[in-house]
Amino acid sequence: MAVGRGSFSSRFAAIMALAGSAIGLGNIWRFPYMVGQHGGAAFILLYVFFCVFLSLPVFFAEGILGKTSRLNPLGALRAKAPKWSWAGYMGILAAFVITSYYSVVGGWSLDYFIRSISRGFHGMTMEESAAVFHSITATSWEVLAVFVGFLGLTALIVLAGVEKGIGGFSKVMMPLLFVMMLLIVVRSLSLPGAGEGLNYLLKPDFSKIDGPAIASALGQSFFSLSLGVGCVLTYCSYMPEDENLFATGMWTALFDTIFALLAGFAVMPAVFSVSGLEPGAGPSLVFETLPVVFTKMGGIVPVVFFLAVLVAALTSSISMFEVVVAWLIDEKGMRRGRAVLLVFLAALALGAVCALAPKVFSACDFATSNIFMTLGALVFVIVIGWVVPKSEPFKEFSSSPSGARLFPVFWFLLKWICPIAIAAIAVTNLL
Ligand code: PHE
Repeated sequence: MAVGRGSFSSRFAAIMALAGSAIGLGNIWRFPYMVGQHGGAAFILLYVFFCVFLSLPVFFAEGILGKTSRLNPLGALRAKAPKWSWAGYMGILAAFVITSYYSVVGGWSLDYFIRSISRGFHGMTMEESAAVFHSITATSWEVLAVFVGFLGLTALIVLAGVEKGIGGFSKVMMPLLFVMMLLIVVRSLSLPGAGEGLNYLLKPDFSKIDGPAIASALGQSFFSLSLGVGCVLTYCSYMPEDENLFATGMWTALFDTIFALLAGFAVMPAVFSVSGLEPGAGPSLVFETLPVVFTKMGGIVPVVFFLAVLVAALTSSISMFEVVVAWLIDEKGMRRGRAVLLVFLAALALGAVCALAPKVFSACDFATSNIFMTLGALVFVIVIGWVVPKSEPFKEFSSSPSGARLFPVFWFLLKWICPIAIAAIAVTNLL
């Protein structure tokens, strides 16, 4: 083991850190509007189906690689399946690119959090709210300042190390995040007209389950569990050796799904309580529509909501940042401080370009979530399913009785279903 790698202090810290990586902007803004667009409860069922039968096996494959090698993505592949080590470089590159553009959106949430404290959103109309969002993203100094602020916060947490920084921050902030979200759900459900929002979210409409809905459900379940770029691999390499990976994975997926549903219950009833707002507004839902909703709620709700968005974004961005730092520490023998500084400066450069050039931003998003993540996931399942001896994954599963019982199912999914399904998606995405 490389000197200074660090490890999580407990099982709780490991689960909170993994849940922190999984729960992010994907849960808060992407999930609610996707559910609305693609048939409500029908989409939720499809999403849960993909989580269980494709994403969880990928999670375990990636986790097993990290936990048994106790290395970063490149080191792990080089040790277990040298022919596939190119995918390690790809994962690290993808994690770096996501860190850069994700921090731009993280910066927006920092901006909105500061605004909710200093100015509030009182009396704002939809046009005014759209104008605010537009002015933030179009004013170079402001968008850069909040981006640097967010990236700086990420770097500081990672600098504090695996145990105190990442583990410590996640242990405290994740339970708090759940409490904050619950408060908003209660407030949101008490608004007049909330029933309509619930209806939008929950009424199953199976006629809307078409090709795009299936692709979105699958893509979302991958993105939401942070798969394919080495975040799960790297975090699992910090897990206590005798830790039960099966239970950790189940808890992470469960928390991630519950949180996505909570975000849906927080957002949609609130949007519906204000007539004339567009629930399928997509990415602008959180930053344009919700401030208008908050004018109705007032008080502390907007502050709590944007703090929740900020915390969720931070616990995800530290997991991507850490992938690159772990590689520099393990493979280049760097000290943590130096590695953090280097990644910070490099992400500053790429992120600044993303912040100012929307085309570069979308290209980074497209390349990472449609190509790198799927290819990375494909390599992880091939290596665990076909390259390493079966005893390795079996050992990780058999440390718990339910894991041992479910191993044959996992093995079948991992060896046969996952590679075929993921390869099909990778090809569709590339066409
Ligand atoms: N899972 C995170 C979210 O839902 C995003 C993410 C993707 C984090 C890939 C790490 C790696 O927002």
